[in-house]
Amino acid sequence: MSPTEEVWWKKWDNAAKAMDFMNKGVELRFGDQKRQWFSRAKGRTLLVAVGTGLDLQYFPQELQLVGIDISWKMLEKAKEKKESSDSKTQLVRADAELLGFADHAFDTVVASCTFCSVPNPVKGLQEVRRVLKPGGKLIMFEHVRSNIFWMGPMMDWMTKVTRRFGPDLNRRTRANILQAGFQLTREINLYLDMVKFFEAVNQKKCPN
Ligand SMILES: C[S@@+](CC[C@H](N)C(=O)[O-])C[C@H]1O[C@@H](n2cnc3c(N)ncnc32)[C@H](O)[C@@H]1O
Repeated sequence: MSPTEEVWWKKWDNAAKAMDFMNKGVELRFGDQKRQWFSRAKGRTLLVAVGTGLDLQYFPQELQLVGIDISWKMLEKAKEKKESSDSKTQLVRADAELLGFADHAFDTVVASCTFCSVPNPVKGLQEVRRVLKPGGKLIMFEHVRSNIFWMGPMMDWMTKVTRRFGPDLNRRTRANILQAGFQLTREINLYLDMVKFFEAVNQKKCPN
């Protein structure tokens, strides 16, 4: 890992302290919808970028869930939540761009404000596709770059600042999903065209 990359993932260690507080509004606004959407996860499920574990509450207790994250500090906080909730979720430190799991190891992959943060989202999504069974589902809750004419350029500009401490605001996630070789089956706007649910299927032939 190069020194620059090391600095990159340490920003997430720093962000871990304030994450629960910063996300309170998101959970209040979208929590019920997340619970409904994430309940579509079936079988062995990978949660990519578990963060501090705020989303663990939205999954059925009996689900075989594996949560990964690049940041040790995020994982420490997720572990506290897991222990206080009796959840059987397995927590593992891993890079979304280089997942240490076998091909086709999961029935479902869930991502929640993940591909705004992974440095190379297409590489990460191709890796997700590798570990998903053919026909397996990718379920995502993500904020994306708006197509509203003045909003998109403003998000590009704001990202120059936000990416120093946290996520990019201008990811073109729909295009990234398609570029990674997924078949997009659903796209639902939750707030304007900026906060969305996506559902995609791993088509049978993996190009990577
Ligand atoms: C905006 S936070 C979202 C956390 C959580 N999903 C939530 O919604 O509360 C982004 C997360 O992505 C993680 N992350 C960033 N790059 C990653 C990578 N390459 N592999 C795994 N996790 C990564 C960060 O550590 C952080 O926990």
